[in-house]
Amino acid sequence: MAIPDEFIQELKARSDIVDVVSSYVNLKKSGRNMLGICPFHNEKTASFNVSRENGFFYCFGCHAGGDVITFIKKIENLDYVDAIKFLAQRAGMTIPEENRNEGLSRLKNRIYEANREAARFYHKQLYTPQGQKALDYLRKRQLSEKTIIHFGLGYSPPSRFELVNYLKSKGFSGTELIAANLANESRNGKPFDRFSDRVMFPIIDLRGNVIAFGGRIMSDIKPKYLNTSDTPVFSKSHNLFALQFAKNKANGQLILVEGYMDVIALHQAGFENAIATLGTSLTQEQALIIKRYCDEVVICYDADEAGQKATARAISILRPTGLNIKVLTVPDGKDPDEYIKSHGEQGSTRFRMLLEKCGNDVEYRLQKLRMNYNTDITQQRVEFLTESAKIIASLDNSIEQDIYISSLAQGLNVEKNAIRQQVSRYNRQNTRQAAKKEQREIHNSISAINDKINTEKSYNLRAANAEEALIALLIFNPDTANTICSKTPPEKFITSFNRKVYDVIRTRVLEGKDISLTDISGEFSNDEMSQIAKILVAHPRENDSLRAAEEYLTVLDEEANKLTPEQIAQADTQTLMEQLRKMKEKKK
Ligand code: CTP
Ligand code: MN
Repeated sequence: MAIPDEFIQELKARSDIVDVVSSYVNLKKSGRNMLGICPFHNEKTASFNVSRENGFFYCFGCHAGGDVITFIKKIENLDYVDAIKFLAQRAGMTIPEENRNEGLSRLKNRIYEANREAARFYHKQLYTPQGQKALDYLRKRQLSEKTIIHFGLGYSPPSRFELVNYLKSKGFSGTELIAANLANESRNGKPFDRFSDRVMFPIIDLRGNVIAFGGRIMSDIKPKYLNTSDTPVFSKSHNLFALQFAKNKANGQLILVEGYMDVIALHQAGFENAIATLGTSLTQEQALIIKRYCDEVVICYDADEAGQKATARAISILRPTGLNIKVLTVPDGKDPDEYIKSHGEQGSTRFRMLLEKCGNDVEYRLQKLRMNYNTDITQQRVEFLTESAKIIASLDNSIEQDIYISSLAQGLNVEKNAIRQQVSRYNRQNTRQAAKKEQREIHNSISAINDKINTEKSYNLRAANAEEALIALLIFNPDTANTICSKTPPEKFITSFNRKVYDVIRTRVLEGKDISLTDISGEFSNDEMSQIAKILVAHPRENDSLRAAEEYLTVLDEEANKLTPEQIAQADTQTLMEQLRKMKEKKK
């Protein structure tokens, strides 16, 4: 029985891997992941890792791994369908009729298409007489032509029927337009444009689909922004504005701001790692998405009271993810967009300075901690210093540590050495943990040589490594996956197991489907899923994913051009000459 894709998506959303595994294994937080004693082999020290953000488990001891469905298959000894039923029951779901879901998947595709057409339509409106004022508005807000095009900004005409009529002429039905929330339904059941006389901001997902719009009024009429309500393709709590651009520019850091205009102004000023929520406060889902694409997040909300409240809330949601958190407060009560503009040509430089000097998590934590103690009382001072030492020891950089030690010593009038000793005590604990981790990693790389699933790996090491890096990259970067998969046939892959994995991923990508581990787990055995999980564990995300992907493809081309030792033994002169020529060309 084929399980409908929509159902798996829902099941996946409702079956948090940490929750599921926790019913069998006692998990403790360890860095980015959760760690416990492996239920699949006998061990004393914990080497069983579960990653909530990436939805998989992996044991560094026995190399069992996979997604939440694989876990249930293995631990309950069930086949794929029964594991799904098991999880569905746990999540309170019943497996639905297949055809109903085929219908939903068709509707979703229609909504994507309608949204794309609408975005084009809105954008073109900017260059019509009635759209002129919107274009003037954007220019007045100092957006360049390039920025307007980059973000696909547009204008929704005032008539209330123009978009609906246009899309109907393109073959979309009223029902589809209402489902897309591009139109509202009038009392007599007729659709009319949802957005009218507003500047339009398309919201785009990581695969490049237009999933929603925000529309800003150009006067003081309320509401200032009107956004697409949740639709079958859009949930405002699961998406972030401009992440499709920012994730490739993150370089480890994302800047979280409040508004669309802030994001756009920052990108234009060269801070292309800025993102925003979509008119709601930050959710846990969004925090996990952010975590997937950076190690550090700079919260840069408005300086007003509401903004500060939102900052405190965002910190409490982001902290459990283990992300490094910084807080940037823009001076003079401005938002980032206003700040940059108010400094004219210096805007970008000035913002960079704010970014560089803004307080990190440690400062913030020390400040908070300090509020809990009355340091005039000796006993409390000691307690405060001991707790502070723990926080300081969590910094990797000893110079940085020294700065905090000095300032604490000065502020509380105690010997610097006393604090330093305390800090180095905690340091040593950290170092021991790091050494253990390194050992695990070495162990892991050695075991790659005895790869039982991909038996061709040992004599195609360079190719297999590039293939695996590429597979991980595609899973972590669905938008790059689109580009790569449409131009790369599976035959490019040299080792057959990796080729099969790629083939499954590629087929789904070309059908516009999701490609997380859970999405593909129906196609692979438990051992194969372990192998894929291992690939993901070994390859953290990359920054410029498209460029990295191109590099891996180049490696595959190079490897494909190499002859195997057997081929060389049998090759005729012409083949060998040809091979030599190719190698020379590459050197040039
Ligand atoms: N927002 C919303 N609905 C509103 C007001 C705000 O959805 N009625 C969301 C929008 O995503 C907006 C963000 O909250 O971008 C921040 O609001 P605000 O600071 O008021 O807007 P700015 O983006 O700063 O817009 P502008 O500079 O044009 O005033
Ligand atoms: Mn603003």
